[in-house]
Amino acid sequence: MKFQAIKGVRDILPPESELWNRVEQAAREVFATYGYGEIRLPIFEPTELFARSVGLDTDIVSKEMYSFEDRSFLAREEIRDFASFAEFVAGAERAFKAGEIPQTSNNASALGEMVRYRDELAKEFRGADPTKGGKDLGDFTNQLVRPYKLLGPVFALQMGPSLSLRPEATASVVRAYIEYGMHTRPGNVKLYYIGPMFRRERPQKGRYRQFYQIGAELLGPSDHAALDAEVIEMLLAFFSRVNLTSAKLYINSIGDKNCRPAYVERLRAELQRVREKLGADSQRRIETNPLRVLDSKLPEEQPIIDKLPHIADCLCDSCREHYEELKRQLALRKIEYQENWRLVRGLDYYMRTTFEITAPGLGSQNAVCGGGRYDGLVELLGGPAATKGIGFAIGTDRLMLSLQEAGAAAKCALDVYIAWMGVQAYPAAVALARKLREHNFSVELPPQEMKFGKSLSLADRLGARFAVIVGEDELAARQFTVKRLADGDQRRLPESDLLEYLTSSRTA
Ligand code: HAM
Repeated sequence: MKFQAIKGVRDILPPESELWNRVEQAAREVFATYGYGEIRLPIFEPTELFARSVGLDTDIVSKEMYSFEDRSFLAREEIRDFASFAEFVAGAERAFKAGEIPQTSNNASALGEMVRYRDELAKEFRGADPTKGGKDLGDFTNQLVRPYKLLGPVFALQMGPSLSLRPEATASVVRAYIEYGMHTRPGNVKLYYIGPMFRRERPQKGRYRQFYQIGAELLGPSDHAALDAEVIEMLLAFFSRVNLTSAKLYINSIGDKNCRPAYVERLRAELQRVREKLGADSQRRIETNPLRVLDSKLPEEQPIIDKLPHIADCLCDSCREHYEELKRQLALRKIEYQENWRLVRGLDYYMRTTFEITAPGLGSQNAVCGGGRYDGLVELLGGPAATKGIGFAIGTDRLMLSLQEAGAAAKCALDVYIAWMGVQAYPAAVALARKLREHNFSVELPPQEMKFGKSLSLADRLGARFAVIVGEDELAARQFTVKRLADGDQRRLPESDLLEYLTSSRTA
């Protein structure tokens, strides 16, 4: 059997990973200049955290999460006969009492049913002992009707909390913010994260099931639009640091809980009138979340959507003022943007500012970053009501695709290949390799002696910048021969000069 990475999941190999490291390092450096510190978050969290924050009706939560029951020591699979069933029931009762499996009413009734069956069976079969008049219960698998009835409650029993691989990280950051009482810290709390996220989407170019994000969140008492603008400025400073050119910024305001509900109702009413002309997805969304209809990419729905009311015309005074201030603040920073009234984003926690950045070379999955304001989220998850939040997440996979499309390539990492000849030369080669590595050169040292020509050809194929030759002549002269592989320039140097030569060639 040949193993392969599962669908939608991939490996990032060297030298490409070197490019990833450079990009992530640039994010660390740029974000630090804006006062952000790194938060390392868990990969999985209670499913409920995402359901509450991202929203039950969103695609992410309703269809795309990798969720599992974090089950206790009990193994359903081992129930084969009466004895193992009775053992399972006793274990489940114990675990339920100890709180090791969730003490929910569903679990209480499933457990009650199992206890009833166990007692019924025990009476009927009396331990399956024929001398006591008991029948042989036999294997469950041979008894078609009873096992189903019996295993129903076994499978209804939730043996642990439901956990999910994180589909995004804003919810986790807010959870941690509340958990560690970070609202007591002075000023704004500014955090960034780098790592994998998981969504069961249909894989295609720029869309994976395990993908990576570089994200940042700012939490604090103020909702001033200057903060929104500064977050966007930081994001663009990062893009410019990694040479992502022609990124386009789109902004919108989706109002708050005072003005959005009226807009949503207006939208719903308008959509009802054109219901018959819409596709199945949009029809469903009229009820569940009319805003999401604005996200539709179906060509035949576009003329209909174009005629729908714009949220900008429905904003309350404070949201309108916030949005105007955002635009002033962006202009002040000389940040170019385009307004897109349809930019509503696919997560429920947003309010007021939303934004997205697109990059070239990505086909249909061209959003390289998405973000926005989420002032009510801290309160929704049980934290202090006064805390506001804004942030973004960059899709690193897409950023890398766009950079590679524009010609970014990983540099060859190998500085020196040591070609040694003759067993006497080996100790000197080992010592030299260690010395060069101490000075931060990347060095390849073959474990066995090789013919000179073969050795140099390998150095070439590995893309080494220099080959250092250590042979009998060099040992006798206490010198090394160094060959620059790009042009064949060759010289003989003592160790100290060799170090100097290599160092100067690095900075050249
Ligand atoms: P999001 O728009 O769901 O927002 O994701 C942000 C970015 O992650 C997208 O623009 C895209 O580049 C990338 N992305 C999403 N799904 C995939 C995928 N399946 N494959 C590859 N890349 C993908 C959020 O996640 C919010 N938490 C952002 C945020 C932070 N808002 C406020 N703070």
